[in-house]
Amino acid sequence: MSSKSSPDLMSKIVSLCKRRGFVYPSSEIYGGLNSCYDYGPLGTELKNNVKRYWMDSMTREFDDIEPLDSSILMHPRIWEASGHVANFTDPMVDCKTCKARFRADQLESATCGQKPSKNPQSCGGELTAPRLFNLMFKTFMGPVEDSSAVVFLRPETAQGIYVNFLNVMTTSRQKIPFGIAQIGKAFRNEITPGNFTFRTREFEQMEMQYFVKPGDDMNQFERWKEIRIQWHLGLGLKREKLRFHQHSEKELAHYAKAAFDIQYEFPFGWQEVEGIHNRSDFDLKQHEKFSGKKLSVFDEATKSPYVPFIVETSVGCDRATLTLLVDAYDEEPAAEGDEEGPRVVMRLHKSIAPVKIGVFPLMKKDGLPERATKIFETIKRKWRAQYDEAGSIGKRYRRMDEAGAPLCLTVDQEVGTITVRDRDSMKQERISESALVDYLTKYFGNP
Ligand code: GAP
Repeated sequence: MSSKSSPDLMSKIVSLCKRRGFVYPSSEIYGGLNSCYDYGPLGTELKNNVKRYWMDSMTREFDDIEPLDSSILMHPRIWEASGHVANFTDPMVDCKTCKARFRADQLESATCGQKPSKNPQSCGGELTAPRLFNLMFKTFMGPVEDSSAVVFLRPETAQGIYVNFLNVMTTSRQKIPFGIAQIGKAFRNEITPGNFTFRTREFEQMEMQYFVKPGDDMNQFERWKEIRIQWHLGLGLKREKLRFHQHSEKELAHYAKAAFDIQYEFPFGWQEVEGIHNRSDFDLKQHEKFSGKKLSVFDEATKSPYVPFIVETSVGCDRATLTLLVDAYDEEPAAEGDEEGPRVVMRLHKSIAPVKIGVFPLMKKDGLPERATKIFETIKRKWRAQYDEAGSIGKRYRRMDEAGAPLCLTVDQEVGTITVRDRDSMKQERISESALVDYLTKYFGNP
C-alpha cells in the first residue's frame, strides 16, 4: 500500500502541520477548542498565498470582476431575506444513552459517543426525533441583550456582495455581466465539525458572484465551472483526484436553481472543496422585497428593467489549503546510504509554497555563513527565504522538504558559485553567484 492511501495519512499530515508550524489546535494550552485551529508561520504564508492567488485570478485575469470587503456583522433582516433564518438548518438527533448529537441525515458516517469505532446506537441508546437546528451564530449588538439587538455572524460572505451590488456597479462603472469577488470569515455552528480543518465552525470563504442577464445564466454557469476546475488544476492538484458532483433536487440549497461541487478525494473520501451555484434572481429579489429598494438594472435593448441572475463560485480558503496539503504530502523511501532515512516532502506548487528558498552555508566556518547570509539578504525581499545553519546539511534539506520549499541554495568553499537543489528531483546544479537573481526570477517568475 502506498503511503498516500494509507488510512493514517490524515494523522501524518496533522502531525506534520503541528511539527512544522502550518496549523496548531486553537487554545492548545487550555486543552484546545473543538474544531478551531490556528495557522502558524508556514500555514499563514500558505493561506495568504492561496488567497492572493485566488483574488489575482479573479480581479487581474478578468477586467469585469471587482473586489469587495464587506463587514461580518450585517443588518439582521438580511438573513431573513436570504432565507438563512428559516432554512439554514440541519436535522439533529440526540442519543438518550451516550448523549452524543448527530446529523439525522448523516448517521451512516457518524460514530457512537460510547463506542467511537462503531455506528450511533451501538451503546444501545434510543435516538430522539429529529429537531431542526439553525447553524447561524447569534450575538447581541450594544449593551442590551434582547431580541431587538440580535445580530448574526455571517454564515456566508455572499450576502455582503448582494447588498452592495448596486454600489459596486455604479462606482466601478461596470455593466452586466460583471462579478464581485470577496474573501472573508464565515461562521457556522456545525453539528458535526471534523476531519481537521475540513469542517470547522469558523472558516474563510473566497466567493465570487457573477451578475448576468436572465437567459445567459446557464451559459455562464458552465463557463465558471470550467474556469474554476482549471484554477484548482493550476495549483498543481492531481487531475484524477478532482471531479464534479451535480446536486440532485434533494441536495440543492434553498437558493439554488442548479449546483455542482468540485470534489477532491481526501483520505476520508470524496468531499466538496468548492460549490458553483446558479442562484437565479432569488437573492436580489428577496433583498428588494425585504429592503423595499430596487435592485434592478435597465436593459437598453428592451428598454425595460430586470433583476440580474447570479452565478456563484464559492470555495473555502481553509478547505482549499487542506486540499493542497493533502495533495502535496509525499513520502519516499531512503536512498541507499542516506543517513536521514525516509524523506517526507510537501510537493507544494511553487506559486503558493510558504517558503520559496532555503539558504545554507555547507559548514559553520571558512566564511561560509557570512557568504550565505549575504545571499539571503540579497534575495529575501523578493522571495520568502529561510536561512538555516543548524545541524547537518541533510537535516536542513529535510526541514525545507517538509516546509515545501522548492529550492535550496548551499554555499560551499567554491567562491563565486552556489549549489541549487531542487526539492522534487533532489538534483543539484552549480550556478554562478552573479546569475542567481536571474535564475530565481526565471524559476519563480517576477514576484
Ligand atoms: N455562498 C454559498 C455557500 O456558502 P456552501 O457550499 O455552503 O455555499 C461554500 O459553502 C464553500 O465553503 C464549501 O465548498 C467549502 O469549501 C466552504 N465551507 C463551507 N462550510 C465549511 C465549514 N464548516 N468549514 C470549512 N469550510 C466550509
